[in-house]
Amino acid sequence: MSITSEQFRRVLRLFPCGVTITTLRCADEIHGLTVSAFASVSPEPPLIAVVIDNRHRAAELLEQPGTSFAVNFMAEDQAELSNRFAWVKDEDRFAEVAWGQAATGAPVLENALAWLDCHIHSSHRAGDHTIYVGEVQACRVLQDDKLPLVYWNQGYRKLDTPS
Ligand SMILES: Cc1cc2nc3c(=O)[nH]c(=O)nc-3n(C[C@H](O)[C@H](O)[C@H](O)COP(=O)(O)O)c2cc1C
Repeated sequence: MSITSEQFRRVLRLFPCGVTITTLRCADEIHGLTVSAFASVSPEPPLIAVVIDNRHRAAELLEQPGTSFAVNFMAEDQAELSNRFAWVKDEDRFAEVAWGQAATGAPVLENALAWLDCHIHSSHRAGDHTIYVGEVQACRVLQDDKLPLVYWNQGYRKLDTPS
């Protein structure tokens, strides 16, 4: 390898990302985790992608047949919720969160800016992560009057928009 992992990370952390909570249903189990590696892929058919570390519980569940997932966009006042879905391990991450069920059965968060509910279209192993492409079955805008949560250079940020 021509660069170190630290060199790679130092560059990547300078790219600003939105923050999602990616939620999934696998048979009777629901799960969710914070994901910033999200991309829009194709409008026709409607495809999006999330990139998940193969060591995560989420990756194990996403490999099971029939698993569906949803991507919930976080608002600027939801850093605490983002941390909950990133760091809480033993507790139920959904315990203090209002959520419902979308068309695929995936859980969706009622206080997100918007969500996309997906069947898994394909998955692509890439190094120690996997790219999961989702085909969007349902989507909803819940609040378009709020600003998004942004993650940049190892911290949560807010957009500074001129009024
Ligand atoms: C701001 C932020 C962004 C994150 N983005 C990703 C990501 O894009 N992909 C990923 O696999 N993990 C990401 N994580 C880490 C996971 O949310 C975290 O490791 C989680 O506990 C994994 O859950 P699980 O192993 O229970 O599935 C992120 C964490 C934070 C705080």
